[in-house]
Amino acid sequence: MDQQAENLAPDAGISKIGVIGAGEMGGGIAQVLAVAGYKVRLQDISAERVQNGLMGIKARLGRLVNKQKMLAAGCAEAIGRISTSTATEPFADCDLVIESAIEDPRVKCEIFEKVCPVLPEEAIICTNTSSISVTMLASHTDRPDRFMGMHFMNPVPLMKLVELIRALTTSNETEAAVKGVVAKLGKTAIPSLDYPAFIVNRILLPMINEAIFALYEGIGNVESIDAAMKLGANLPMGPLELGDFIGLDICLSIMRVLYEGTADSKYRPCPLLVKYVEAGWLGRKSGCGFYNYNTHPPVVNYRMFRAE
Ligand SMILES: NC(=O)c1ccc[n+]([C@@H]2O[C@H](COP(=O)([O-])OP(=O)(O)OC[C@H]3O[C@@H](n4cnc5c(N)ncnc54)[C@H](O)[C@@H]3O)[C@@H](O)[C@H]2O)c1
Repeated sequence: MDQQAENLAPDAGISKIGVIGAGEMGGGIAQVLAVAGYKVRLQDISAERVQNGLMGIKARLGRLVNKQKMLAAGCAEAIGRISTSTATEPFADCDLVIESAIEDPRVKCEIFEKVCPVLPEEAIICTNTSSISVTMLASHTDRPDRFMGMHFMNPVPLMKLVELIRALTTSNETEAAVKGVVAKLGKTAIPSLDYPAFIVNRILLPMINEAIFALYEGIGNVESIDAAMKLGANLPMGPLELGDFIGLDICLSIMRVLYEGTADSKYRPCPLLVKYVEAGWLGRKSGCGFYNYNTHPPVVNYRMFRAE
């Protein structure tokens, strides 16, 4: 980063950003970065995955053009800013790298081991982890002061929030530069301490788990619980419907992170949630969760998991 740009720009003159992992989140992150004017290097483990990520970006931006929410020229320019690779060498000129590979601490640490030697010394690394300790990940890099959590929400292009999580070692300069990037994306940065599930998931997932307990205990049925929370708490989506949308396996894994990370029994996953995941009823992505999505409109899918 050149010193003059660093003094002027809120994002400390960051212009080239690497994105590791071209899946659901990495594809969305690469898209919003490119639309905001950053040069993006999108990387994944196979040519097929990286191409799928790029195709997803092209399809989403194409839909915006069709709906006249984006100019065709702007769309072409944004796509032109993205280059793809299966190697780490293209990160050699990046000012920032955002890691958004699968949620596995071993995989993430191996990635940092490979990427750190390639990066410029002053480059910042961020992780999009939802649940792994940012401080632990920072300690597996050669730059714990230039490392932090940058937790985007799904779907990235639509959701306005990015949670910023400082590791214990993160410098003020790093946080300021990453905040500048979030602002340039037109999103809002909210800081969270590095505790299990950060702010949004810490509050949202226990609510979904509690809705599943209410179903399990027979307090209401699928439809009444969702309708009650929509009408009574003004939620746009009922909690069971939302659990299906997020993926019941993801909901279970976040509840387990909270339960194990805090050793507090209030976060114990509902046995019914565990059974649905064991049955392969993962929500929308598997076609069936608390609702069956193979019919239009979806119908309730409920099996009792208690002796009557
Ligand atoms: N899905 C969500 O709602 C959500 C929301 C916020 C944060 N996150 C976090 O974002 C990250 C990615 O989640 P996702 O939903 O995009 O997962 P995903 O499974 O859609 O994508 C993960 C991608 O990582 C790639 N990958 C695996 N190993 C890799 C490696 N060594 N190098 C490069 N790429 C590798 C995979 O090939 C895959 O394309 C996770 O840490 C997750 O916790 C997810």
